[in-house]
Order: sequence, then C-alpha cells, then structure tokens
Amino acid sequence: MDGNGRWAAERGLPRIKGHEAGAEAVKACVKACGELGVKYLTLYAFSTENWKRPREETEALMALLEKFLREKTDEMREKDIRLTAIGRLGDLPHSCRVELERSIAATSNNKRITLVFALSYSGRAELVDAIRLLATKVKNGQLDPDEITEEIVHQHLYTNRWPDPDLLIRTSGEMRVSNFLLWQISYTELHVTKKLWPDFTEIDLIEAVRDFNSRIRRYGAI
Ligand code: FPP
Repeated sequence: MDGNGRWAAERGLPRIKGHEAGAEAVKACVKACGELGVKYLTLYAFSTENWKRPREETEALMALLEKFLREKTDEMREKDIRLTAIGRLGDLPHSCRVELERSIAATSNNKRITLVFALSYSGRAELVDAIRLLATKVKNGQLDPDEITEEIVHQHLYTNRWPDPDLLIRTSGEMRVSNFLLWQISYTELHVTKKLWPDFTEIDLIEAVRDFNSRIRRYGAI
C-alpha cells in the first residue's frame, strides 16, 4: 500500500495524514474485494524495514492499526470476513497485539473473504523462520533432508493455509517487489499502477482485475 507519504506531501500535510487516508482506502478496498468475489486479500501494512522510520511515525501507524481493529471487528464479523495476520507479530506493541488477537479470534469462523494483514513482515524473514523450523526438525530427527520438497517448504511458511496469490497490485508506480511474499509470488501476475494508495478506489481494483483476466498464464509451459 505504497504512496501514503507522497499523498500527504502533495497536500502539504504530515505523513501520518497520508496513512490515515490510507486506512480509509483499506476499508474501501476490502468492501470492493467482497463485492468482486475475491477470496483472499493480503495487505502489506508494515514491513520489518518500516521499524527504521522515525518513532513518531511507527507509533502513529500502530495506533492507526489498533483503531482500525477496535472499530471494524464487529463489522468484519457480521460481513463474514476472516481477519488474520502474518509477520513477526511479537514485534508489535502489546496493546496492538491484544487487539489483533481479539479480532482474529472474533472472526475465526468466517468464510466469505480472508483478509490477511502483513505486519512486521518481510519475505526474507519469513524464509529465515521457515528454514529455522525445518533445521530444528532435521536436528531432532523428525525430518530427513532428502524429504524436503517445495510442498514441505510451503507447509512451513506463514501462509501455509492459503493458496499463492494470483495477482499482486503495487501502487505509486514503484517497479519493485520490496520483500513481499517472495516464495509465494513465483507465478503471480503483477499489476503496477501510478495511483498513490490513498487514491486507490474500486475502479482501480476493477482495472487491475481486468488486466489480470487478459493475461495468459503458462507457468513455464507453452
Ligand atoms: C507505505 O507508504 C505505507 C505504509 C508503510 C503503511 C501502510 C498503512 C496504512 C495504509 C494504514 C494502516 C493500515 C491498516 C491495515 C489499517 P509510504 O509511507 O512508504 O509512502 P511514500 O512511499 O509515499 O513515502
């Protein structure tokens, strides 16, 4: 969800105002995904690298996330949205983790759409965590290294319960993957839009899905 800072700068506002507008765009995007029949939506809300930002900004982002969870959990429960999260969630402030765990538990039986927040997430950190789990199993004699397959790696990722993404949308025109779901996006279609995240609307989502529908996916075959 890139471009919040630039959105604010264009208006002469502090960066946090861009993040607030970004949180509004999250609400609109989840609603639009529900209407379009998207089953899984993963939002890259905070990377492991984002902790390098000034403390004022990281604290404001955590407060925004907490506010979102407090205000939206009941609605998610009613609208059959299952909320979950990936990343090094232990890095989050205690009050944020409590709110997150509450929302996850409150929506755990929901089925219509799975909304995944990537928080203190990076694809490399996820791979490191998976490798540690695998190495521990090998060390304890629970796993033979020759048995490690792509499927076994998949089972040790944070995302082991879900299919790989079909479509990755990157806002603000950046042509980078930025450490997002590195293993999972091997065959994901990429859609880059110049729109800054707070300006990303249902129309932009429909355009991205249309673009996706025009692709021929060969998965390395002919
Ligand atoms: C990247 O834009 C955005 C973030 C690091 C934070 C994303 C957070 C939100 C959209 C709001 C809170 C989230 C939830 C789930 C309620 P940037 O700050 O790097 O923008 P820039 O590249 O223009 O500076």
